[in-house]
Amino acid sequence: MTGRYAELHTRSITDPAGFWGDAAREIDWIKPWDSVLDSSNPPFHRWFTGGLLNTCHNAVDRHVDAGRGDQAAIIYDSPVTDTVQTITYSELRDQTARFAGALRGLGVAKGDRVILYMPMIPQAVVAMLACARLGAIHSVVFGGFAPHELATRINDSKPKAIVTASCGVEGKKVLPYKPMLDAAIEQSDHKPDHVVVFQRPQVTAELVGPRDVDWAAAAAAAEPAECVPVAATDPLYILYTSGTTGQPKGVVRDNGGHAVALKWTMTNMYDIKPGEVFWAASDVGWVVGHSYICYAPLLHGCTTIVFEGKPVGTPDPGTFWRVIEQHKVSALFTAPTAFRAIKREDPKAELVKKYDLSSLRTLFLAGERSDPDTLHWAEDNLKVPVIDHWWQTETGWAISGNPMGIERFKVKYGSATKPLPGWDVRCLDISNNEVNRGDIGAISVKLPLPPGTLMTLWNADQRFVKSYMTDYPGYYQTGDAGFIDDDGYVYIMARTDDIINVAGHRLSTGGMEEVLSGHPDVAECAVIGVADELKGQVPLGFLVLKNGVERDHAVIVKEVVQRVRDEIGPVAAFKLAIVVDRLPKTRSGKILRGTMQKIADSESYKMPATIDDPLILSEISEALQGIGYAKPGMV
Ligand code: COA
Ligand code: AMP
Repeated sequence: MTGRYAELHTRSITDPAGFWGDAAREIDWIKPWDSVLDSSNPPFHRWFTGGLLNTCHNAVDRHVDAGRGDQAAIIYDSPVTDTVQTITYSELRDQTARFAGALRGLGVAKGDRVILYMPMIPQAVVAMLACARLGAIHSVVFGGFAPHELATRINDSKPKAIVTASCGVEGKKVLPYKPMLDAAIEQSDHKPDHVVVFQRPQVTAELVGPRDVDWAAAAAAAEPAECVPVAATDPLYILYTSGTTGQPKGVVRDNGGHAVALKWTMTNMYDIKPGEVFWAASDVGWVVGHSYICYAPLLHGCTTIVFEGKPVGTPDPGTFWRVIEQHKVSALFTAPTAFRAIKREDPKAELVKKYDLSSLRTLFLAGERSDPDTLHWAEDNLKVPVIDHWWQTETGWAISGNPMGIERFKVKYGSATKPLPGWDVRCLDISNNEVNRGDIGAISVKLPLPPGTLMTLWNADQRFVKSYMTDYPGYYQTGDAGFIDDDGYVYIMARTDDIINVAGHRLSTGGMEEVLSGHPDVAECAVIGVADELKGQVPLGFLVLKNGVERDHAVIVKEVVQRVRDEIGPVAAFKLAIVVDRLPKTRSGKILRGTMQKIADSESYKMPATIDDPLILSEISEALQGIGYAKPGMV
């Protein structure tokens, strides 16, 4: 049966220019585009070439001009500081224009990079929008990354200025940010001209002029800045994400395609109307935070929630329900791990019953595979549709999902439903041919990608081509394996590279291996992701020590755990490592990480035909049993 979805999806693939050209009418353009889609230089496809716009104008000013000035743009809800604050669209315009003026006064202009190292406070969103207002390119770095990771991003993006706050508040911990930022700048070759600090009442950061500038003073003294026209194809932001090595990939997003695509998703994927309250319980440091805390809800004229807290412990597992009731949230978007955390502390959902959740229409989950147990628990207790949708930092919005504003498909547990309009999703074998329906393969997207997706990697066009566009010519390689069933439902099963997903956070095991191998006693190492009831996966390291090392293994393990925390950050959640005599390898020397993961998770596995010495697998199994993994009997 052909429904509205089939019609829209077909049109988006056969006539992308017509489809997205229509969608682009929802955005204010200073100058319309010459061409909707420019495919003259594949695989670097460009959307809305020749068009001029300003993303901040579309997210903020236009709503004030259209009479939404008194509507809440941001509700800041911070149980950790006991604060609830509403910022209207008029106030957001004024604050953003002033802060943009302050940045301009510090020399920031169109095309300059600005790193934002911010906790979940409204100033993080204001800073993002202020950069967009000036045509400067922001790069938000998640607060849970250590100075070393921040330094890598400073060196790669070479920011003119860095914006930070005096501290973050993580549950009951107050974390001063400025010392971490100072350490990062110390470690990096590039030095920003200025550091702008938003002083929070919990901690006062020490400012050393003339480099360091106080946010409040600079904003008060600044003339408000107007929106600067930028090309649709000018970068709006760089967001670094884990690749296969310790060098993160700087995903570059444009202005025009991004605004068009994100606005479109609010109606079609999320079924949200302007004026409604949309809550993405994530962090501005992740892509979900960029797209669905900051840009999409504001482009659509919604109220967005900036929540500074955790699903549990701030103060209890009822905090999500309290926020929904208090602010009349229409849609909640979070990662399954948040629900696993709540379910673990309140399995019978006693706290759900204490709140009025009648405003909530839909729960959206993404960031990692949704386990059916969690999905059922959420459905049974919230009594709203629970929609799994699949996407990546690179894509900026969902590749597949249940398009609530187009046609609502039956939920199949374990599937992120169907490819959204714009996405020509195929499941391929290694020869670039489509596999049969139901067979596992590399989930790939036929080019061109729709608007709003990555344009390239910052300063790394070749890495972009090699990472995503080479192994499957003509397609974007998602790095995810899975299958498509007879009804066209997409199932994402696992990554095909060494990326793991810890509490919905994307991490590179390769990056952790680089840190472990830097330890003076470690000759060789491997890091895998093992199943974890709460976080989905957690990293586990195997260490082979250098000949002659006789130090206590427990001490070495403690040291490598600390190293990962110091160099990557607490967000890596690296707490487990064991010392083994040897690592299992193929005859050509490739470490059999996949087999080790199956052994650790007590899954059945086939002995790899190319294994060099099968005995090593028993040694690995025994070592894992020593820390409670690899139930006996599976080898
Ligand atoms: N700044 C500084 N440190 C941070 C941080 C931040 N912004 N975010 C996390 N950390 C720290 C945590 O405090 C923790 O430190 P610890 O080792 O000292 O305890 C460590 O990084 C690991 O964090 P996390 O993996 O998030 O574990 P957690 O126990 O603090 O919380 C969950 C677990 C499931 C409650 C939490 O991860 C969560 O709510 N996740 C779902 C929402 C989400 O963020 N999704 C992301 C994409 S949609
Ligand atoms: P990130 O770039 O941090 O958004 O992580 C993207 C990766 O998370 C994807 O490549 C998938 O491996 C995984 N992922 C995201 N959403 C889903 C989902 N709904 N189902 C399964 N895996 C997902």
